[in-house]
Amino acid sequence: MPVVQTPTTLLAMVDAAIGGKTGINTGEGKNLVGVFHQPAAVICDQDLLETLPTAEIVSGLAEIIKAGLVADPGILDVVWSGPQETLAPAGPLLAELIRRAVVVKAEVVADDPAESGRRSILNYGHTFGHAVELVEGFRWRHGEAVAVGMVFAAEVAVRAGLMDPSLLGLHRELLAAVGLPTAYEAGRWANLWAAMRRDKKNQGKTRRMVLLEDVGRPLMVRDIPEELLQEAYRAVSAVPGAAPYPVKTAPDYSLENPYGTPSYVPPVDLDTPAPPGGRERL
Ligand SMILES: NC(=O)c1ccc[n+]([C@@H]2O[C@H](COP(=O)([O-])OP(=O)(O)OC[C@H]3O[C@@H](n4cnc5c(N)ncnc54)[C@H](O)[C@@H]3O)[C@@H](O)[C@H]2O)c1
Repeated sequence: MPVVQTPTTLLAMVDAAIGGKTGINTGEGKNLVGVFHQPAAVICDQDLLETLPTAEIVSGLAEIIKAGLVADPGILDVVWSGPQETLAPAGPLLAELIRRAVVVKAEVVADDPAESGRRSILNYGHTFGHAVELVEGFRWRHGEAVAVGMVFAAEVAVRAGLMDPSLLGLHRELLAAVGLPTAYEAGRWANLWAAMRRDKKNQGKTRRMVLLEDVGRPLMVRDIPEELLQEAYRAVSAVPGAAPYPVKTAPDYSLENPYGTPSYVPPVDLDTPAPPGGRERL
């Protein structure tokens, strides 16, 4: 049956409505029950966003920033050019961001409709993000959970010696600049760890997680040791209840140095050996 999707949230316009995934949420977790059915068309009408609560726009921006981090640095430039202006529902910055994020999602999905390889880059930030959603009983918005999940993934990647700490700084600053959370409560590791072990990207007993080496260079990394993940969690939960970085209004972002100067360099030993279990370029 041909289906035309007419998403009414920003998140659905740039992500959920594109790619043919349909699914229902269950108490066991998200994305566990569903089928693939490609829509005949997706109509993104920005006027519909005029009535959408700002918090939902902010949530949608997390998936847009994710698309930028995994595949299109130009998205990060647009967000940096006016983090607050991007929140205007019918504004030109948001129009450009929707267009670019749709291109990323459509291209990745066309490459790998059944998520057997490259499509998994779209799960960046979702391992920890889905765990947060589950632990919070789905009271967090999806984009909010993914935002913290991307900071977690960046903390893991830096600790694994894969990512330059300045890119971790960029994660925190860019997400905070649009009002997304970058920290999660301490003391929840046992529950989060149990949820992450049930993640859909895992294959049998092999745990898998998408990490970035750089903007646009995602990797699938297998069996990262729990201790390293827990260390990353400690960093994400270091400041209870608040984003640990000041929100920047005028980012020092330049094309020559796309990560700008991070306001924070975490206490990381870059000699930490890379995680065992193997990596796969996506
Ligand atoms: N399958 C995928 O690829 C994929 C990708 C991302 C997210 N998701 C899933 O999609 C779901 C999130 O859906 P969502 O973010 O679109 O939110 P939603 O459908 O839950 O809507 C959020 C809130 O906004 C209200 N709302 C929606 N449109 C509105 C409008 N135009 N004006 C005023 N209010 C409006 C809704 O009533 C609701 O209260 C999550 O379950 C998420 O996990 C799936």
